[in-house]
Amino acid sequence: MSRPYRSVLYIPASRERALEKARELTADAIIFDLEDAVSPEEKVRARDLLAGVLAGASYGARARIVRVNGLETEWGAGDLAAFAEHPGVDAVLVPKVNSPADLDAVAARVKAPLWAMMETAKGCLNAGAIAAHPRLEGMVMGTNDLAKELGARFRADRLPLMSGLGAAVLAAKAEGRAIVDGVFNAFKDEDGLRAECEQGRDMGFDGKTLIHPAQLAIANEVFAPSEEEVALARRQIAAFAEARARGEGVAVVDGRIVENLHVASAEALIGKAEVIAALAV
Ligand code: COA
Ligand code: MG
Repeated sequence: MSRPYRSVLYIPASRERALEKARELTADAIIFDLEDAVSPEEKVRARDLLAGVLAGASYGARARIVRVNGLETEWGAGDLAAFAEHPGVDAVLVPKVNSPADLDAVAARVKAPLWAMMETAKGCLNAGAIAAHPRLEGMVMGTNDLAKELGARFRADRLPLMSGLGAAVLAAKAEGRAIVDGVFNAFKDEDGLRAECEQGRDMGFDGKTLIHPAQLAIANEVFAPSEEEVALARRQIAAFAEARARGEGVAVVDGRIVENLHVASAEALIGKAEVIAALAV
């Protein structure tokens, strides 16, 4: 695992104070937003401000992802031109991707790896082809836009969104891409956020997109392997090695079987914990 995406914080690129503050925040990645969080009157100012900030400021290990406006809008081409070869950008996030052709159009104009917003019904139906795009690095669920398009109601269990979430997770995993869950709007509801982070983690998401710094700690905790998980992983690896030494192919730990596939998962979990621990130093 190259880098973690437990916490992916949106910052409206028009908010100078928040851009500044983010250099100190414990986010694994930042999405500098030029799209929905910026009003039409502020689009061009925000683009210029962001280009300047990213040229100067250091964001340390945080991945710097710029969410541009769609090419069908009056700002899309200008956004892409401003960040086409910008050295302070790790990836460009394309909104409302419906098909791989939407990524082709952006790939032709920028050098950075691409991320795709999964937030339309068409996009979710084409998730496999989108994930397979050669320039794609990761996917971000846009659950607010998806719910709007589906006419889905908000429910704590997110059952109405499951088909879209599941399609995107399957696609990302099939192609080895990163995938990050949608935002939790009620940013003062910590219990609600934790429950939704846990649901996303259990589904296989790498992390969660966030809208407020107060959400960072919970996402970082939920999407990191716990000490108990790491300890169990070590015991599974050891037990399996002992079983192999006896000429057996299956071990038993805590009443559950451990086969080589579980060992591979245990090793991946320990690797992830090590990457996260290295970030903290
Ligand atoms: N990133 C970085 N810093 C942020 C931030 C963010 N997303 N949201 C708030 N902050 C900072 C504020 O600048 C403030 O810092 P300061 O006290 O040092 O000046 C501090 O955190 C506390 O902010 P608070 O007053 O609680 O929030 P707010 O009323 O300023 O803003 C929101 C609330 C929801 C409007 C704001 O968090 C936001 O715009 N979030 C992002 C929305 C977005 O990008 N949406 C698009 C994708 S869904
Ligand atoms: Mg959206």
